[in-house]
Amino acid sequence: MKFFVDTANIDEIRELADTGLLDGVTTNPSLIAKTGLNFLDVVAEICAVVEGPVSAEVAAMDFETMLAEGRKLAGIADNIAVKVPLTRDGLKACKVLSQAGTMVNVTLCFSVNQAILAAKAGASFISPFVGRLDDIAADGMNLIAEIMEVYANYPDFKTEVLVASVRSPMHIVEAAKMGAHVATVPPGVLWAMFNHPLTDKGLAAFMADWEKTGQSIL
Ligand code: E4P
Repeated sequence: MKFFVDTANIDEIRELADTGLLDGVTTNPSLIAKTGLNFLDVVAEICAVVEGPVSAEVAAMDFETMLAEGRKLAGIADNIAVKVPLTRDGLKACKVLSQAGTMVNVTLCFSVNQAILAAKAGASFISPFVGRLDDIAADGMNLIAEIMEVYANYPDFKTEVLVASVRSPMHIVEAAKMGAHVATVPPGVLWAMFNHPLTDKGLAAFMADWEKTGQSIL
């Protein structure tokens, strides 16, 4: 399972990349706005820090402009995944960009039908938003299960399921059980995955006992 971090904050990205466990980054216009920085500069900086796919989202709504923006974003670095919304124009742009060899992440997916269309359009990633479905009392993880089931029926679909809008470590456990390819996770949730109170308690006891031996390994 691959982990992407869902932020445009370069310090948070560097800290996570340092663990050696980070496979990519996703950004969106809201995350870029939070940084207060220039979009193209931020994305270029992220691409220099992380080797894996870095999603950068187009801002246009129409096919022609999306395509032009997508091509410009793809020119920033080889590891850019152009993010397009799941609209008619977005999928048209996805098809053209994918055929030209650019990675495309189709975002704002809320149904199995949409995921099927994205796969047919050649998307590298489909991003179903589980947290936002949970927010309206729908079952976000059930959508992941259904998309995984449908994609498995069509081995020619090469699209990876990128679980997005993750809100808790439990979403990650469920996604992993379903075999989802990627989860994009807010930094706080990724760090929370490391924690268990019994690890802390056990380590404190081992360290106290080691101290009693008076020994040192080095
Ligand atoms: C995915 O690429 C999106 O940026 C993200 O996961 C959206 O998450 P949110 O619903 O917490 O804003």
